[in-house]
Amino acid sequence: MDQEKKLYPTGHNPLFIKPSRPMPREVALIGAGTIGPDIGYYIKTALPNIKLYLVDVVEEPLKNAQKRFEDYGKKAVEMKKMKEDKVKEILANIVYTMDYNEIKNCDLVIEAATENIPLKQKIFETVENIVRPETIITSNTSSIPADRIFNKMKIPERTSITHFFAPAWRSLPVEVIRWQKSSQKTVDWLFWFFGQTGKVPIITDNVLCFMLDRIFDNWCNDAAYLLPYATASQIDKVTEEFVGGGPFFVLNMSNGNPIIHETNTLQMEEGAHYKPAPIFPSVDRWNTKRPGSKVDVPEDVKKKVRDRMLGILFSQSFDIVDRGIGTIGDLNYGCQIALGFKKGPLDIMRNLGEAEVGRIMKKFGEDRPGYPQPKKSFSFYQDFNRFLLVDEIDGVIVITLRRPEALNAISDEINNEILGVLKKYANDPAIKGFVITGYGNRAFSAGADIGKFPQTLGNKAAAAKYAKDCAEVQLFMDKMQKPVVAAINGMALGGGFEIALRCHGMVATKNAFFQFPEITLGILPGIGGCIVPYRKWPQGAKLFHEMICVARPINAKEALEIGMVSKLVDDIPDLIKAAVDEVKSLQGKVKGIPDGIVEIPEFSIPDPPMAGKLLLSKEAVSIIIKTIKAGAAAATFDRALEMGYEGNAEIACTDAAREGISAFLEKRRPEFKN
Ligand code: COA
Repeated sequence: MDQEKKLYPTGHNPLFIKPSRPMPREVALIGAGTIGPDIGYYIKTALPNIKLYLVDVVEEPLKNAQKRFEDYGKKAVEMKKMKEDKVKEILANIVYTMDYNEIKNCDLVIEAATENIPLKQKIFETVENIVRPETIITSNTSSIPADRIFNKMKIPERTSITHFFAPAWRSLPVEVIRWQKSSQKTVDWLFWFFGQTGKVPIITDNVLCFMLDRIFDNWCNDAAYLLPYATASQIDKVTEEFVGGGPFFVLNMSNGNPIIHETNTLQMEEGAHYKPAPIFPSVDRWNTKRPGSKVDVPEDVKKKVRDRMLGILFSQSFDIVDRGIGTIGDLNYGCQIALGFKKGPLDIMRNLGEAEVGRIMKKFGEDRPGYPQPKKSFSFYQDFNRFLLVDEIDGVIVITLRRPEALNAISDEINNEILGVLKKYANDPAIKGFVITGYGNRAFSAGADIGKFPQTLGNKAAAAKYAKDCAEVQLFMDKMQKPVVAAINGMALGGGFEIALRCHGMVATKNAFFQFPEITLGILPGIGGCIVPYRKWPQGAKLFHEMICVARPINAKEALEIGMVSKLVDDIPDLIKAAVDEVKSLQGKVKGIPDGIVEIPEFSIPDPPMAGKLLLSKEAVSIIIKTIKAGAAAATFDRALEMGYEGNAEIACTDAAREGISAFLEKRRPEFKN
C-alpha cells in the first residue's frame, strides 16, 4: 500500500524509531484555555522532571489551569492512581507566565490557543523569534491544514500539527500530521515522543480536519440536519447503539457548536454538501439527556435516524480510506479510542454485512447527494488487521499487538489475526520469519482477555474448548519451519506469556518481566503454560513451579539465566534488531517441543499458599500441581497439552475461579476460602 508507506515510512510502531534527539527537558504550552493545560498535564505526568511553561496573554486562565492541575493531582491520590510524592513532582517546575521570552530554552512548543489562522501565525512568528532553531513547534488544531499555519515560518521543517482529543491528559490518541514541509526527522521524533510517553500517535495526511474530526464533525452536522424529524434526545438515544455519548450530548460537553459550524464551513471547499446545519450558531445547549436515560423513539423515527447516522459515518469512512487520509486500521481504532465509538466503523459495517451497508449507502446517496460513496468493493474495506500493526524489517514480518488500553490483552480476535498473519507469510519465500511484540513500553501482553473468562466458568466442556481454541496460534507455531521470535518489551503475563513461550526464540528488554498471575484469579495457565516451560527449559523447573503455583514473577535477568531469553537489550529499537537477528540465526534450526516423560523436582509451596500478601486457594493450587505432574508424566507433548486443557476445565468449575475472576472484573481483591 503506497499511501500507507507514505504515512509510515519508518514503520507503524512509534517505538521502533531510534530518536534523533532525546526527550525534551523544557516544554511550552501556548494557551491556558481548555485543552492546553490538559496537554501540559499529560506531558508532566509522563515526564515529571521536565520544566513546563504554560503561556497565556491573560492571567485568569493561568490561575484556573494551576487550580485544575492541583485538582487532578488530588483526585489521582484519592483514587489511589498516584502517590502524593509523584503528584508533588508533577506539580513542581511549572511556570505559569504571560511572558513569551521565558520559553526561550524550550525543546518543544505546542500551541493550543486559538483556531484563528492569522492569530496562530502571529503566535508562531513570536515563538520562532524567541526559541532556538532546533526547537520543535507544533499546533493543536482539529481542522486547519499545516501549510495554512506554518507556510510563513523561517524553518518550517521543524513544524507539524499535533491534534489531541479531549480529555487530552487521558485520551490516548494524538494525530500527527505529515505535511510537505515538515522534515521526516520532525515527524519521526513526534511519533516516537508520543509513543514513548504513553499516547497512541496516529499519522494522517494534511487535509482539512485530518482524519478523525472528519468523522466527528460530519456525524454531528448530520445529526443537526435530522432535527426536523427527531428531537436531540431521540437522535442521541438512537446513536447510543454505536457510541458512549450521542452527538448532542458530546456537543454540550465540549461547547462544540461553534467548532462544527467553523469546521464544516471549511470543508465546503470540498463541496457544498458539507455545509453546516444552519441551526448551530443559534443554539447554546441542546436539550438532551445523559446516555442511558429512557427516551421514547417511534420505530419509523429510529429507522430514519439510524440509517442517516450510519450513512454519514460510512460515507466519511469510505472517503478517508479511498483518499488515504489515514490507514484503515487507524481509522477503525481511532474512532473507538478518540471518539468513544463502541466498535469501529469498519466493524459496524462487518456486523451489518454487505447488503445492508449497500442499502444504507444507497439511501444516504438519495438523501445527501454529493457525499462520498465507496470506490472499492465491500471486501476491500474489511481486509485489514484491527489489533495488529504489521511491518516488514529486513525480510522479517514484525507483528505488534496494538491494544494498549487493555495492556495488549489477547482477545479471540487478536489470536485470529496473529494466526492470519503467520499463515499469510508462512510459505512466502521472501520472508525469513516473524517477530511478535507489544505496543508501547509497558506490556508485551497482560494476558488472555479476562472479560471472556466468565463464559467458561462452571462449564468443563466450554473451558476445555476455550483453551483449545485459544491454542490455535501456538499449535500452528509448533509446526512452523520459519522461526517466530517474541520480543518482550515489558510485562509478559498469562496468556501473553503463553504465546511467547511457544515462539522459537525470545529476546527482551532489561525491564521486562514474566508472570503467570492466573492463580490469583483462581485459575491456571491453560494454553500450555503448565506444560511447555518444563519441556523447553527443564533447568528452570523449580522457578516454574513457583511461577505457576504462587504467581512469582521473574525478571529478565532470571529469564536469561535459565535460557528462556537469549538476549537482553536496553531499548525497543535494539529489541527489534535483536529479534530480527535471532530470526535470521534460527534459519533452518527451528526445533519442536520434546516428547517423552520429563523429570520435575518436588514442589515446595508454602502452606498456606500466598502470592505476596494475597492468600491463594489451596484447592486451585492442588489442581495446578496435579496438572503440572500429569503433563510432565505424559509420554508425548500432544498428550501433555491435553492434560493442560483438562486441568483448565477442572479449575474453571471451582469456587476459586468464580471468586478470582469476579474480583478482577469488579476491580476488588479476591477473597479465596480455604
Ligand atoms: N484482560 C483484559 N483486560 C485487561 C487485562 C487482561 N488480561 N489486563 C489488563 N486489562 C485492562 C484492565 O482491565 C484495564 O482496563 P480499564 O482501563 O478499562 O479498567 C486496563 O487494561 C489497564 O489495566 P489496569 O489494571 O488499570 O492497570 P494497572 O497498571 O493498575 O495494573 C496489571 C496492571 C497487569 C497488574 C493488571 O492489569 C492485572 O492484574 N491484569 C490482569 C493480569 C492477569 O491476571 N493476566 C492473566 C490472564 S491470562
